[in-house]
This record gives sequence, C-alpha cells and structure tokens, in this order.
Amino acid sequence: MIGSGSSLQMSAQDFLALRDFVYNRSGIYFRETKKYFLETRMGRRIGELSLNSYSDYLKLLQGPGGSEELKFLFNEVTTNETSFWRNPPQIEAFQNIILPEVADIARKRGGNRFRIWSAACSSGEEPYTLAMVCVEAKDTVLRGFNVEIIATDISERVMKLAALGQYGSYTLRNLTPTRLRMHFDQKGDDDFEVKPELKRLVTYKNFNLVDYQNYRTLGMFDVIFCRNVLIYFDDAVKTKTIHGFLEQLYPLTYLMVGHSESIHAYATGFELIHFSMATGYRKKA
Ligand SMILES: C[S@@+](CC[C@H](N)C(=O)[O-])C[C@H]1O[C@@H](n2cnc3c(N)ncnc32)[C@H](O)[C@@H]1O
Repeated sequence: MIGSGSSLQMSAQDFLALRDFVYNRSGIYFRETKKYFLETRMGRRIGELSLNSYSDYLKLLQGPGGSEELKFLFNEVTTNETSFWRNPPQIEAFQNIILPEVADIARKRGGNRFRIWSAACSSGEEPYTLAMVCVEAKDTVLRGFNVEIIATDISERVMKLAALGQYGSYTLRNLTPTRLRMHFDQKGDDDFEVKPELKRLVTYKNFNLVDYQNYRTLGMFDVIFCRNVLIYFDDAVKTKTIHGFLEQLYPLTYLMVGHSESIHAYATGFELIHFSMATGYRKKA
C-alpha cells in the first residue's frame, strides 16, 4: 500500500544501504538477521511521512532535511530497555566500594566537584539510580561535594521521558519500599515521580557516542556508567568509545559496563576489578 509503510518490502539492497547509514551515524550495527527489525521500525516512520519506499527514506536522510529526520531515525532504531537498580550487585559495588574509593581520590585532588556520566541513559532509570546512591551518601562519603550527574542519550524521545521523571511500578521493581518512599512522590496507583532532590542532581544532554571529538566538551568524570549499549556497536566503534571514556576519567576512577559486556580486548588503559558478583574497569594510574 502506497504511503503506509507497513506492507512495504525492504529489499536486500535497501537493507544494506540503510544499515550502513545507521552504522555511520550512530555506531549501531545491524546484522542481516536484524533486517526485520529495521524494516518494521523504519516502515513505521515511512508510513508517518507518507513516503513510498525505503530508498525514498534514505534519500530524505541524505538530503537537506536529513539532520532533522535523524532525530526520528534514532528514536526508531534504538532499543531503550532499562530499569531502576538494574544489575543490583553492580549498583551495590558502586555504592559500597567504588564511591568511597573515588570520593577519596576526588577529595585529595581538591575542589568540591564530583561528576558522574551516565552515557546512554535511556529514560532516566540509571542516572536516577545513581542519584539515589549519591543522595544517600551526601552526609557521609560525599559530604562537602557538589554532585553532578550528566545523563546523555542519542534518542530525544527517551530523554524527554527521563526529564519528566514519572514511572510505573514495573520499572521500579528492584527498589526496596524504603527507597521508593524516600526518593519518589506517589501521584496515583501506579504513578510515581522522582523527587526534586534527585532531579536537581541530573542534567540531561543529547549526545551521540560516535561524536568522538565532542567527548571532551562534557568535562572530566569520577565515574562513567555505560551499560548495555556497547553490545550494539562493532569492534571499531567500541574501541573508539572506550578510548573516549578513558580520556574523560581521572586516574584510578571507574568505567562500569553492562553485565554481559566484556571490554577487555579494547581497554588497555583499564584494569578489570572484581567485586562480589560484579566487575568494573579502573583506569590505570
Ligand atoms: C538498552 S539501553 C541502556 C540504558 C541504561 N544504560 C541501562 O543499562 O539500563 C541503550 C541506550 O543506548 C542508546 N544509544 C544507542 N546508540 C547510542 C549512541 N550512538 N550514542 C548515545 N546513545 C546511544 C539508546 O538510545 C538506548 O537508550
């Protein structure tokens, strides 16, 4: 059906051209087995735009209006699954071991800034989880620090949700009732809003991890979380991304990646540190 997108067929040639376009702009690499995913997500957008084919969509992306359309493309091709307190052993290692260690380093460095980057923050669950940990430590290990959590993502759609800070119970399932009461205002049966104290700690910025030359504009960090996004990248993009993180971390501070993401092969500037049921990468001195 012309203009609907839903029944359009993506040819093998369209797939390769669009796959390469997405890869060049975002680092996200779709194997042949993911053709259906791209076909469905882009088909949806083609329908909204009343275009007639995938090749017309590629022309639009490559044409003068392309940079505006890129925002929609990124919303469509990203997978944004996340939740609060995701991978509890890792969050607990951050809370109990990493935070005291890096706060000590920050204190010795002088100044009162303590900065965390949630790179690929999706709808905000990760940065707000880190904000909870920081709020809970404000009178102890983080006493005297001005905490800043920079949360970035390529998808503007999820970042808008993140800034709103409103969540249902499913994504909150890992939080204890005490933490839920402490950090959220309940607005309805299944409607919770992050308290202003947490929101104030988090600054959202649209940031594409393949814009390697822009990493330094974000400044230096005491901890970087980049979880469950490197799996979408190929080796070349992983290597450059991890190098970018390395440059933005102070010596002996940490990069935390997802549970299933080993960056060993790409991360010569880091040392793998084992915690109880979790790992982290510490920048070498
Ligand atoms: C599965 S979510 C992970 C969210 C969170 N870090 C967590 O572990 O729960 C992956 C996120 O990576 C983002 N992403 C993908 N490619 C990106 C890129 N090139 N730059 C920035 N963010 C990207 C997606 O938009 C998505 O929100």
